[in-house]
Amino acid sequence: MSELRIVNLHVNVNGREILKGVNLTIHKGEIHALMGPNGTGKSTLAYTLMGHPSYEVTEGEVWYKGQNILELEADQRAHLGLFLAFQYPVAIPGVSVANFLRAAINARRRIANPEDKGIPIPEFRKELKKVMDLLKVDHSFASRYLNDGFSGGEKKRAEIIQMAMLKPEIAIMDETDSGLDIDALRIVSEGVNALRGPNLGVLIITHYQRILNYIKPDYVHIMMDGRIVESGGPDLALHLEEHGYDWLKNKIEMTF
Ligand SMILES: Nc1ncnc2c1ncn2[C@@H]1O[C@H](COP(=O)(O)OP(=O)(O)OP(=O)(O)O)[C@@H](O)[C@H]1O
Ligand SMILES: [Mg+2]
Repeated sequence: MSELRIVNLHVNVNGREILKGVNLTIHKGEIHALMGPNGTGKSTLAYTLMGHPSYEVTEGEVWYKGQNILELEADQRAHLGLFLAFQYPVAIPGVSVANFLRAAINARRRIANPEDKGIPIPEFRKELKKVMDLLKVDHSFASRYLNDGFSGGEKKRAEIIQMAMLKPEIAIMDETDSGLDIDALRIVSEGVNALRGPNLGVLIITHYQRILNYIKPDYVHIMMDGRIVESGGPDLALHLEEHGYDWLKNKIEMTF
């Protein structure tokens, strides 16, 4: 099966239950937005899907391509086509953007074929230039150390450059819109839209409706207290913008 299927996912962080039974299915070709108040577990879901060791799964499964990916290491998940654009990307001083990307691409190629000699440099350069042009980033960006001294907006663009270069099948974008100025938000969104297609499923975690004007979601979900408490179409994000989360709190108190 080509969809990512999250079933009854419970996750503890430092012994405290953060995710309390998340169910969500993302088919390729679909864009899902995940919204919800601060601290409700959105990033926890993203990290858990990518296999961060601090997030302890106590119950549930995540199915992708016939496997429960929770049994796989983070690099194996990446190889299967999962990708996370971080809310807070880390700096790697001493490693340039270009070298980092080439190493990531080659690592993936080598898992597919241990004999692989790596992506030919001219092909890599051509592809990287194309992606940097798409995201309107100066070519000198490639030789800077990854995220080292990058502005907030540059870090977010670097995440999307990685996404465009690694061509994932399921991409999770954790607050890629935060910290972007209005023009950068449009450019980054156009970059994501250029990657959109039947072979890519996306989960966009965001607090604001604005990015969803550019990247039109098929579904919008709201997470509160470690569960998805409401799902709907793009209108749900507009409703939130206007009414906040209070109406949901009342609804949850009646249900749980
Ligand atoms: N590594 C960690 N150590 C301690 N607590 C953590 C850790 N990761 C998450 N938490 C806690 O889990 C809860 C959920 O955090 P999470 O980052 O998933 O929220 P979020 O929905 O992404 O919030 P935001 O909208 O502010 O990004 C918070 O109370 C947070 O403090
Ligand atoms: Mg978060």
